[in-house]
Amino acid sequence: MAHLIAPSLLASDFANLQRECEMLNDSEADWFHLDVMDGMFVPNISFGIPVIDFINKHAKKTLDVHLMIEQPDRYIKQFKSVGADILTVHYEACTHLHRTLQAIEQEGMERGVALNPHTSVELLEPVLEHIDLVLIMSVNPGFGGQKFIEGTYRKVERLRTMIDSRGLETKIEIDGGVTASNARKLIDAGANALVAGSFVFKSDDPKRTISELKNC
Ligand code: DX5
Ligand code: ZN
Repeated sequence: MAHLIAPSLLASDFANLQRECEMLNDSEADWFHLDVMDGMFVPNISFGIPVIDFINKHAKKTLDVHLMIEQPDRYIKQFKSVGADILTVHYEACTHLHRTLQAIEQEGMERGVALNPHTSVELLEPVLEHIDLVLIMSVNPGFGGQKFIEGTYRKVERLRTMIDSRGLETKIEIDGGVTASNARKLIDAGANALVAGSFVFKSDDPKRTISELKNC
């Protein structure tokens, strides 16, 4: 299957969110990547449930919600109610990850687990069959526009082997510092979906940049 592109609206023009949504609807983007930050799990605050509710009114594609928040269990139902299709929680933020994954599934959303750069993919071994998407952070979460961490390729390869050897369909998504120069290499290492924030929204022609990533 062709790889998926998930532009991150964190780098978009918040004063023109409707226009940005329409641009993505009209582009080769597959998912809308929405970064929720609470100022606790990460040292930054982005946007939350009411903003996603408005985005959902305009977005015609899958809403891929990345929660960089502590105790995400508190908000699972609310994110479902504003249209989240994929709900990704951080491994490092979940004391009872298995239970959290059950709660996400119960709400009928795809279950995502994100790993910080220092977290080994091997830690997912006991729960891998309960995960629809693993998001590998290729920068430290909290901010857009950071430099890609090169050690990511090895993590992707190791996770790809774990998934394939178990005959699972779990997708691998990469988030942080993705550009046209590392996209192909990430796909070749085994990634299925690429998040790109600043590379898309700070470019002269975001729609063309999305096509470039899609057809790399
Ligand atoms: C970072 C977020 C990313 C961010 C990526 O914590 O999870 O989704 O928007 O931004 P770029 O592509 O600019 O690194
Ligand atoms: Zn993200």
